[in-house]
Amino acid sequence: MTTAAGPTIAPIPSGLTAIGAADAAFLPALPVSDLAPGAMARVSFADLDVLLAHTSEGIVAIDDRCPHMSAPLSIGLLEGCLVDCPLHNGQFDLRTGEATRMPTTGGLDADGTYHPVWTPEGKDPKPDPPGVKAEARRFTRVRRIRFYPVRLVEGVVEVAVPVA
Ligand code: FES
Repeated sequence: MTTAAGPTIAPIPSGLTAIGAADAAFLPALPVSDLAPGAMARVSFADLDVLLAHTSEGIVAIDDRCPHMSAPLSIGLLEGCLVDCPLHNGQFDLRTGEATRMPTTGGLDADGTYHPVWTPEGKDPKPDPPGVKAEARRFTRVRRIRFYPVRLVEGVVEVAVPVA
């Protein structure tokens, strides 16, 4: 979101701050002018890849890893506060950290509820293939997104990340 005073920072959903981030130092990520409303960018700090997203509620920072199977969300699609994963079409709400559309490969909700492999409308349900691949799908939990604190300092987006 951008107001007359400039871009804003979206609040972090309760309980979803990334481990170690609350006490971490803020590090410069990129000029805010490089993150237009609706844009996403990957910024790496050592081996930690962070997604900066300029959502309709403001700028957020999360891991640049889909909570399903770790695909980079930064090359997906952002609409409002919803980010679509480029790998299995999972969709996640950056206001809540929740999945809003299960990945097409199926998996488990954060609470453990099982979702089968996605099947196009009007087709017979696709069975899981046998073997370890099916087991892997059945055990893949779609976790909630974790967020990093963000601030704006003199036109630069800074992120608190727990890296040395
Ligand atoms: S890796 Fe993102 S939906 Fe599967």
